[in-house]
Amino acid sequence: MTHRILLLPGDHIGPEIVAEAERLLRALSADFGLDAELEYAHLGGCAVDAEGDPFPATTRRLAESADAILLGAVGGPQWDDRPRDQRPETGLLKIRSTLGLFANLRPAMLFPELAAASSLRPDVVAGLDILIVRELVGGIYFGQPRGLRTRDDGVREGFNTLVYGADEIERIGHAAFQAAARRGGRLCSVDKANVLESSELWRGVMTDLAARYPQVELSHMYVDNAAMQLVRDPNQFDVIVTGNLFGDVLSDCAAMLTGSIGMLPSASLDDGGRGLYEPVHGSAPDIAGRGLANPLATLLSVAMMLRHSLDEAALADRVEQAVARVLADGYRTADLATDPARAADTRTMGQAVVNALYH
Ligand code: NAD
Ligand code: IPM
Ligand code: MN
Repeated sequence: MTHRILLLPGDHIGPEIVAEAERLLRALSADFGLDAELEYAHLGGCAVDAEGDPFPATTRRLAESADAILLGAVGGPQWDDRPRDQRPETGLLKIRSTLGLFANLRPAMLFPELAAASSLRPDVVAGLDILIVRELVGGIYFGQPRGLRTRDDGVREGFNTLVYGADEIERIGHAAFQAAARRGGRLCSVDKANVLESSELWRGVMTDLAARYPQVELSHMYVDNAAMQLVRDPNQFDVIVTGNLFGDVLSDCAAMLTGSIGMLPSASLDDGGRGLYEPVHGSAPDIAGRGLANPLATLLSVAMMLRHSLDEAALADRVEQAVARVLADGYRTADLATDPARAADTRTMGQAVVNALYH
């Protein structure tokens, strides 16, 4: 059956890294039996410019009928002063929530060849393999009321609401317990239950769920401590489950343990098999257009897509092995290189991964 894959290149480095994903998908189709049809649409700033909406109806229709979606990244300074509904990031939030993509899987693993690129000592990051499960369509990102207003004394204020329903906590909890059961059997729920009622409920729901997963050992940690523990001794973690905002922050932090934010892929899943796949990093306007972007997070996101949405586990393994091989062969983009003068550009890295598929 032909898989319909929707590509959303987005802004700044987005099109550069998605071009490498397209090269990879075309090679998998030509020589490794992947039956895929690629479609393209606008999301983010490019959609604002082309269609006047960061998540246009045409994109929505294609997204709803696709078997899987690959996103580059959205956003950039030229759209930062727009009203919120005209911002690229709003398009991303809308596609996640419209498609019900509540479970965001952000694996952080260290390729042994990159131990020297990590900002932590090699002995601290050796063997790193953790999974952050981030709730993606609730919490303070979506809570109402929100807005900007002027107080009676004339002072402006901005406000947001952090709210989680027990049903929302339960479904992300199930996703996380199931992921932990498939991996090392340890789940750490990260919250701020010492201060926030929404976290008090979160902790209670996670504790209740644990009875249904006797093979998983549940622990709890406050988010401030979790941020510290991630850089002190990341290998104490197997799976972390947390809310939308905490997961956003902790996953960028975990990314750096692997050598670069340019290494971290992600999958955003609904409760069927539909998924949107994207690197954890953003559109990196500071390096756009210069061939400096590391495409590996995007190529590893393609591997996650093959595994989670397209039922092509063998091809997913092949892509991950190809990435491991190019790193073993010494290919490094500037973000990973010890000698940036000898770094591979985006295209060279992408082509090297494609070449390694054939070994
Ligand atoms: P960013 O992740 O884009 O960049 C942070 C730093 O990491 C920059 O120095 C950048 O050059 C570097 N970097 C990021 N990806 C890289 C890669 N693949 N290779 C090499 N270096 C890389 O975060 P930011 O600067 O805070 O945000 C820039 C824009 O991206 C903003 O508009 C933000 O809203 C948006 N954003 C989008 C997404 C997304 O689309 N999923 C995620 C995060 C940020
Ligand atoms: C991410 C990004 C997004 C988020 C922004 C761009 C809306 O930082 O995917 O991590 O905060 O979820
Ligand atoms: Mn983020």
